[in-house]
Amino acid sequence: MGDHRGKSLVLVASPFQGHMTPMLQLGGVLHSKGFSITIAHTKLNSPDPSNHPEFAFLPLFDKFLAIDASGNFTKFLEELNENCKMQLQHHLAQKITNEVNQKITIIHDNIMYFAEEVARNLNLPSIVFRSCSACYLPAYLKLPQLHAEGLLPVKDYMLQKLVPELHPLRFKDLPFNNTSTELFKEMLALAERIRTPSAIIWNTIDFLEHSVLTQLRKHYKIPIFDIGPLNEMARCSSTSFLEEDTNCISWLDKQAPRSVIYVSLGSLATMDETELAETAWGLADSKQPFLWVVRPGSVNGSEWIEFLPDGFMEEIKGRGLVLKWVPQKQVLAHAAVGGFWSHCGWNSTLESISKGVPMICRPVMGDQCVNARYLSFIWRVGLELEYLERKVIVNAIRRLLVDDEGKEIRKRAITMKEKVKYSLCKGGSSFNSLNDLVEYIVQDHT
Ligand code: UDX
Repeated sequence: MGDHRGKSLVLVASPFQGHMTPMLQLGGVLHSKGFSITIAHTKLNSPDPSNHPEFAFLPLFDKFLAIDASGNFTKFLEELNENCKMQLQHHLAQKITNEVNQKITIIHDNIMYFAEEVARNLNLPSIVFRSCSACYLPAYLKLPQLHAEGLLPVKDYMLQKLVPELHPLRFKDLPFNNTSTELFKEMLALAERIRTPSAIIWNTIDFLEHSVLTQLRKHYKIPIFDIGPLNEMARCSSTSFLEEDTNCISWLDKQAPRSVIYVSLGSLATMDETELAETAWGLADSKQPFLWVVRPGSVNGSEWIEFLPDGFMEEIKGRGLVLKWVPQKQVLAHAAVGGFWSHCGWNSTLESISKGVPMICRPVMGDQCVNARYLSFIWRVGLELEYLERKVIVNAIRRLLVDDEGKEIRKRAITMKEKVKYSLCKGGSSFNSLNDLVEYIVQDHT
């Protein structure tokens, strides 16, 4: 391990769980390489400093009490960025004055784009951190063209058709394919605010996304460090905003090996009452044991599980567990878990792949649709759940956990887990990329 303690890294995190977790993991990895780490974060969804004694924390006081997912998302981000900018700039200007021998590099979440402006103003090097898949970006970058050609929002008869030049994506796999024109314009405006950085750190693995990464390197013409999966590299304690219910582990201990379907839609996705009922009866009718995370507020209009159908909890007694939030990485590592029904957020995808757990893919929005297509069609470690209907759900669970088809998928998932391990070992792609990143940071690219 080199000692780069003269070099101080300021990691600017965003207040979303799926972004905060890998950012803290990145901090842990770079700290183990000898850098001193400051996590600059919003007051909204702050990380718990007592879980990370190795970091310094810099709270930036935004005015938000909660993430406004229903309103104007771009406006929310714009205000968040605006509120934080001068605070970070002021703090870093002071740090530069007080610690003349400290060299600072800013690493920022791509949606915390204000940090790039601060870096420019203070003449500091900055690097963008991307916590979504690489395969998502070409699809996102293609949206303006498809919109101009009148192909978005996607018409029903086009959903199964392949998107020209975006193999293997179908129109249904495009991010924001059915959103209103208003929201769509917002998402494109957001892309314009994120300027081309001097380097990108990507939480991904070369063997998973080799051809897309090659394409992106050509497109950006800047260093791209693919150093994932961070969930396997960092020894972080909990990074959850919600309390993790660890009772699930003793419950899992009592289940047969590879018998349980674990169900979670991450930290943002929501469902309506009908979808909740179909999911509930699908799980009950599958006759397999299940662990189902229903996040408080994730069912539209409810606090928690008050909309679960009558008789459901009695029906599943002893066979199913419904909890608010669990230690997901521990759950996926448990021998009783045979499959993961996921919304295919990128962290969940990487965590499942790293543990060799085959998936049922039911994306809800954004990059999840692209990830799901890669999981089921390219990497072939997941089954696509076409419809959220109880019979279709039963069929998918039984195909994955009971049928021969599931055994084949599991074999591929185990092979993939091994490949992940190799990429992290000495000489592996992520191992090398991380060393290249360290070199890059040390060489000061202002
Ligand atoms: C968001 C986006 O939706 C996702 O698509 C994007 O790639 C990253 O940002 P989110 O929807 O929360 O993230 O999904 P995901 O990326 O899978 O992150 C969820 C995280 O929460 C995972 O690290 C998972 O381990 C954790 N989690 C989830 C728990 O620890 N416990 C739970 O009960 C559920």
